[in-house]
Amino acid sequence: MATNDHHWIFFVLSTLLLWFLESSNATYINVVNYGAKAGTTFDSTTAFLKAWSSACKSSSGGPARIYVPKGRFLIKQVSFTGPCRNKIELEIEGTLVAPSDYWSVGNSGYWILFRDVNWVSVSGGTLDGNGAPYWHCRRTGNNCPAGARSISFSWSNNVVINGLRSINSQRMHISVDHCKNVLIEEVKIRAPAGSPNTDGINVQFSSGVNISHATIMTGDDCISIGQGTRNMWVQHVACGPGHGISIGSLGSYLEEAGVENITVTSSVFTKTQNGVRIKSWAQPSNGYARDIVFRNLIMENAYNPIIIDQQYCPGRECPHQNSGVKISRVSYEDIKGTSASPVAINFHCSSSNPCWGITLQDIRLTYLKGSATSSCSNAAGTNTGLVIPKSCLTH
Ligand SMILES: *[C@@H]1O[C@H](CO)[C@@H](O)[C@H](O)[C@H]1NC(C)=O
Ligand SMILES: *[C@@H]1O[C@H](CO)[C@@H](O)[C@H](O)[C@H]1NC(C)=O
Repeated sequence: MATNDHHWIFFVLSTLLLWFLESSNATYINVVNYGAKAGTTFDSTTAFLKAWSSACKSSSGGPARIYVPKGRFLIKQVSFTGPCRNKIELEIEGTLVAPSDYWSVGNSGYWILFRDVNWVSVSGGTLDGNGAPYWHCRRTGNNCPAGARSISFSWSNNVVINGLRSINSQRMHISVDHCKNVLIEEVKIRAPAGSPNTDGINVQFSSGVNISHATIMTGDDCISIGQGTRNMWVQHVACGPGHGISIGSLGSYLEEAGVENITVTSSVFTKTQNGVRIKSWAQPSNGYARDIVFRNLIMENAYNPIIIDQQYCPGRECPHQNSGVKISRVSYEDIKGTSASPVAINFHCSSSNPCWGITLQDIRLTYLKGSATSSCSNAAGTNTGLVIPKSCLTH
């Protein structure tokens, strides 16, 4: 090939490339160009905030893409606030690291907070909450700050979190509140079994949250579903160690938003404290949980595979009170496996507000050291198909 041909090919290719870059209409923002530096001593907080501000303001018509390359980037508390002029895609290849001095994340309760955003996605990468020094503070009973959730979305719509890994959060790893339409898929969450209050994913006051294909190993609930959550879908979660998937704690407040239309399906619980749990404080409340489906689940030595606990009162500040939370239409279908305790099915409902409309269908839970049993109080419903251990629901 003649040299001229090379020039010609180069010219054509670069013209095509330029044309492609311009026509794709995307704004591309590498945090390194805004001053971020990998290495765990340099503080990249300001660089990330500048990158966000630039992405949020850009009006190219296409999405603004913020790119975090490989490496460990130290960032302190950040709020990525909207509304923004277009979609934003945060693409992480490296790791964001929280400072080990937990006071520097402050008392706000948040490490990385997205607020008032619409059409934001976060994909790939790792968040390292550096929680160990904070847990140590909690355990030794020193004066500790409130502790931070690693990544939170508040008052936001149309959010996607995809392929993110979150490790060692001070408190909850992923939190969603006051949001609509949130897809959380292929996330991996990991904190030690004994780490305090390190819930995997916490959802409150939100609708249309979908969690799909998650691996969660943690010291508290794998997923906790709080007041005001509606139309939520959870599928293909591997949970454990951890406290299982919980609806609750409900009834913390007298005036409380209810929880309804929640489905948890096709998931496995390995050596968890609970499998699927609904819990409420034993005190007055106008809260409720209804239209809940737990289906196609495998329990591998879960301590309480199926549990409703309306007598929750860890600090014993509610002696001789009943939970005001109304629990109805909860169905358990196709739940198999082993219980680590003899009582595989526990329905302990409120005597002032008994549970009704509970259905058990095709349940087979065994206890290795003997036969499993059920235990009920104030719980009514129906059984279909084979139910082992024998159900104690009243009709
Ligand atoms: C939840 O998301 C998964 C993965 O994207 C999808 O397959 C599933 O249909 C979604 N569920 C609902 C109820 O939208
Ligand atoms: C219940 O939630 C699912 C998503 O999990 C949604 O597709 C469905 O429309 C909701 N049902 C009602 C009656 O709102």
